[in-house]
Amino acid sequence: MLRTHTCGELRIENVNTTVTISGWVQGVRDKGSLLWIDLRDRYGITQITIETEKADKSLIEIARSLGREYVISVTGKVLERYSKSEKLPTGDIEIYPDKITILNSALIPPFTIEDETDGGDDIRMKYRYLDLRRNTVRKNLELRHRLSIETRNYLDKLNFIEVETPVLIKSTPEGARDFVVPSRMHQGEFYALPQSPQTFKQLLMVGGFDRYYQIVKCFRDEDLRADRQPEFTQIDCEMAFVEQEDILQTFEGLIRHLFLAVKGVQIPELTRITYADAMNYYGSDKPDIRFEMKFVYLKSAAAENANNLVNGAGFKVFDAAQIVVGICAKGAAEYSRKQLDELTEFIKRPQIGATGLVYARYNADGTIKSSVDKFFDEAALKKWAIAFGAQPGDLMLILAGEQNKTRKALSELRLEMGTRMGLRDKKKFACHWVIDFPLLEWSEETSRFHAMHHPFTSPKPEDIKLLASVPGEVRANAYDMVINGVEVGGGSIRIFNKQLQSRMFDLLGFSKEDAEAQFGFLMNAFEYGAPPHGGIAFGFDRLCSLFGGADVIRDFIAFPKNNSGRDVMIDSPSPIAKTQLIELGIPLS
Ligand code: AMO
Repeated sequence: MLRTHTCGELRIENVNTTVTISGWVQGVRDKGSLLWIDLRDRYGITQITIETEKADKSLIEIARSLGREYVISVTGKVLERYSKSEKLPTGDIEIYPDKITILNSALIPPFTIEDETDGGDDIRMKYRYLDLRRNTVRKNLELRHRLSIETRNYLDKLNFIEVETPVLIKSTPEGARDFVVPSRMHQGEFYALPQSPQTFKQLLMVGGFDRYYQIVKCFRDEDLRADRQPEFTQIDCEMAFVEQEDILQTFEGLIRHLFLAVKGVQIPELTRITYADAMNYYGSDKPDIRFEMKFVYLKSAAAENANNLVNGAGFKVFDAAQIVVGICAKGAAEYSRKQLDELTEFIKRPQIGATGLVYARYNADGTIKSSVDKFFDEAALKKWAIAFGAQPGDLMLILAGEQNKTRKALSELRLEMGTRMGLRDKKKFACHWVIDFPLLEWSEETSRFHAMHHPFTSPKPEDIKLLASVPGEVRANAYDMVINGVEVGGGSIRIFNKQLQSRMFDLLGFSKEDAEAQFGFLMNAFEYGAPPHGGIAFGFDRLCSLFGGADVIRDFIAFPKNNSGRDVMIDSPSPIAKTQLIELGIPLS
C-alpha cells in the first residue's frame, strides 16, 4: 500500500498507530542527532523525524540522500511532538519512520515551491506542473472546482440540464475573430471553434429542452488582457418561456447562492442601472459601484440638462468642449502638487487620451482654489462646489471634451481615485445588473451597425417601431451582470421569429444570401415552433478570480496561455509537419 493516510490528515488521535504516507519532499533539515523531513501532498505537510543515534543506518542513508521534490513513501509510527507547531494542522504529531522508499528522484526545481516563490511568470508557466504544486495555485483551482459544483447544484435543482454542444462548428463573421481548423476530408474548407454555444443553445430551446446549461470552453481570437484568455470557460445558460425578469431573478439567485455557499457572504438583492445611466454617471457600462463618486456635469451635451456653469468665462478648453464633467474626491483637497501631476500624467496616457486635468480644491478654511483661477473667481467655483456636493476638504477633478471620449477618460480617473483612496476593497462585493443596452452600435471603421450583444438579441417590443427610423436608439432586452467593475456575465432575450431575425441581419448589412448561408439553419428552425427564450453566459474564469480576490484570470486556469497567447510549456502554437499541411491541402509557402 502506498499510503494509509494523506499528509494533511494525521492528528493527536492517531498517536501510536502505524501509518504509511506518500508525497513530495518539501525540505530536509539535518541537525546531526536529529533529522527532519517535511513531506507534502495536496492535503498538507507532515513532519518525519529521525533520531540518528537510534535509527537504522540504511534508513538514515536514504534520508540523507533525499533532495527537494523527491517522491517518497514513509511507513512509521505516529508520535506526539514535543514542540508542537500551530501553523500546521498536523503540527501536534510527527512520524518516526521504520521504512522510507524512494518512489522517484527529482531534479532541483527551477524555482522554490512555496507560497512566496522566487520564480518569475515565464519560468513558472514553462514548468506549470511544478507551479501547480504550490498552495496558492492549488487553492485557486480548488475554488474553481467548488464554484463549478455549486453552480451545478443550483442549476440542477431548478431543472436545468447540462448538454454538450459541438466544438467543431462553422465560422461566422459577427463577434470576435474565430479560431479555425482546416478540414482534411473537405480540403479548402474549415471548421471554426465556438466563440460561444449561442446558436446551439437556442436550437436546444426549439428542441424542447426548456432549461439548458453547460460549463463550456469558448474560443476567441482577440487581444489578450488580464481578464481575457483566447480559450476561456463560460457558464452558459438558456431558458424557454421566459421574459427578462425571469432570467434576472434566476441568475441573480445563482450568484447569491455561489457567494453564500462558497464564501459565506450574503449578497443583497442586486441593484439595476440602465446602460444610459451607467454611461452618464460612471462613463462605463461596467461601473464599479463599491464607491459612489458619480459624474457631475458642469456642462452637458443634452440640451434638457444644460447645467452650464462654465461657458463664457474665456476659458477656451471649456467653451469648445461638448461636455465638462468631473468627480468629487472626498477628503482629497490636501493632495500635493506631485499627486495632482501624477493624476494629470495618468489621464494623458495614450490609452486614456485626455488632454488635461482641471482641479479645484475646496480647502478646509472654506476657500476654493483651482487650476483655472484666471478664468473662474471664487463665486463661480462655489457654484461648482454646490453642483458637486463638495464640502471643505474635498477635491474636484474635471475633464472637458467630446462626450464619449471624455466620459471614458473620467471613468478611468474615477477608478484610479477609487484605488488611491482605498475604496476598492477586494473583500467587498458590489454586484449589479446593467440593463436596457442599445441593440446596435455604429462602427466608424466599417460604416455600419454592429450588434451590441449579438445578432440574436431581441429589441424591446416598444422600440421595434424605431428600427426603421433611428436604429441606433433602439434598446434591447439585453443585460450584463457586473461585480466590482468586472463584466462577469451577459445575455439577452432572443428573437424567435424568422421575419424579425431576417430584418436584424438586414440592419447588420448582411445580404439575404449571406444571412441564409450563415444562419439559415437557425431561421429555418424558427419556422418549426420556436418558443420565446432567453439566456445568459457567465465568464467562469472571471467569476473565479473575483471570488479569489484577484484581477488576473490566468491564475485560476490550470494550463493558461501567456500574455502573447502562447502555451510556453507545450510550445504552442507551433509549425506543423509538411506532410500534415499537404494532407490538409494547405499550400506550402
Ligand atoms: P459574451 O460575449 O458577453 O456573451 O460572453 C459572456 C461572458 O464571458 C466572459 N468572457 C470572457 N472571459 C475570458 N476571456 C475572454 N476572452 C472572454 N470573453 C468573454 C465575460 C462575458 O460577460 N453567447 C453570449 C451569452 C448569451 O447571450 O447568453 C455570450 O457569449 O465575462
